Amino acid sequence: MEKIRILSLSKRYGKVLAVDSTSFSVRDKEFFSLLGPSGCGKSTILRCVAGLEEPTAGKIYIGETLVDSTSDHVNVSTEERPIGMVFQNYAVWPHMTVHENVAYPLKIKKMSKEVIREKLDKALHTVGLERLADRYPNQLSGGEQQRVALARALIKEPEVLLLDEPLSNLDAKLREQMRFELKDLQRRTGIPILYVTHDQAEALAMSDRLAVMNAGRILQVGDPAEIYARPADRFVADFIGLMNFLPGRVMDRSSGTVTVEVLGGHRMTIADPSGQEGECTLAVRPEDITVGRTGQIPCRVEVRNYLGNLIDYKVLAGEQTLRVQTPNTEIFEEGEELGLTVHRAMLFSFPER
Ligand SMILES: Nc1ncnc2c1ncn2[C@@H]1O[C@H](COP(=O)(O)OP(=O)(O)OP(=O)(O)O)[C@@H](O)[C@H]1O
Ligand SMILES: [Mg+2]
Repeated sequence: MEKIRILSLSKRYGKVLAVDSTSFSVRDKEFFSLLGPSGCGKSTILRCVAGLEEPTAGKIYIGETLVDSTSDHVNVSTEERPIGMVFQNYAVWPHMTVHENVAYPLKIKKMSKEVIREKLDKALHTVGLERLADRYPNQLSGGEQQRVALARALIKEPEVLLLDEPLSNLDAKLREQMRFELKDLQRRTGIPILYVTHDQAEALAMSDRLAVMNAGRILQVGDPAEIYARPADRFVADFIGLMNFLPGRVMDRSSGTVTVEVLGGHRMTIADPSGQEGECTLAVRPEDITVGRTGQIPCRVEVRNYLGNLIDYKVLAGEQTLRVQTPNTEIFEEGEELGLTVHRAMLFSFPER
């Protein structure tokens, strides 16, 4: 079942069309991310779902309830929407202890002390903060403060959780750890999450499905493996992970495959549903290229970056610079003359938008 449904949503601020007629759904128990560069409209969509912005056009459903419809003049207030929210500056109140912070949303609803106690215990348990309940935020680490904000969003038992870059204030190590915690929390509670990030690694790691956005529009929706392996266009191919783009020429075609010439005469046969002819662009992931003393295409190592588990090379083949990532089992020197082999490539028609 769908827990959030967004239909032809647009939001205009004066001359800026921040969100341009986007539609997507978040299913029950799903971790769904909006991913895209700064300014592409991610937060605006989230703020519309939260009722903090009024859409210029479109409809939003949370569960079965229509919460926004410009054509029907529906705009349900934030307080009446069954949502929990955590934003980038997670804004825990410094003068309140952990338990006061978390219980606050119920206190203003004037719930009984017993009910608050019970729900508070449950929320603190969910995020693993039971033993820190009497501390003040300045006595907590960044990750613990983040969990206070999550508990405060969860205590109202919302139908959906809206998270806007909630990890971006944390250092790199803690961010990685919190990715696991967030996903685990989502699995345990089953609460659907609409998550906003410009960090592609974060979106790939955590999401069941994600939508890649640019300039107010959604370019592709899919699960992480699908988006990584079959990006819908050049923008998505470039934005998700690392990608080499190589100019090529279609030489021959038979049913479903084409033979393409790249890198100064090297021929490759690859799958191609697009039916392209003539000049084309091949997209190749760095891990789909190997370099070594026996590769097919001559190349020279220009720069080597040691990443620990991987070696990241910038190599020059003819006039073309490529990124190549290999396991750390054999390491080559800068300046070495080698050969490279392309094991897998994608051919896009790259429709103009
Ligand atoms: N209140 C506002 N008034 C005018 N323009 C706005 C307003 N809020 C956002 N915008 C504009 O709308 C566009 C989308 O903004 P939004 O905050 O949704 O981007 P974002 O994808 O969340 O970016 P980031 O990753 O930087 O947070 C931007 O061009 C922004 O400048
Ligand atoms: Mg934003």
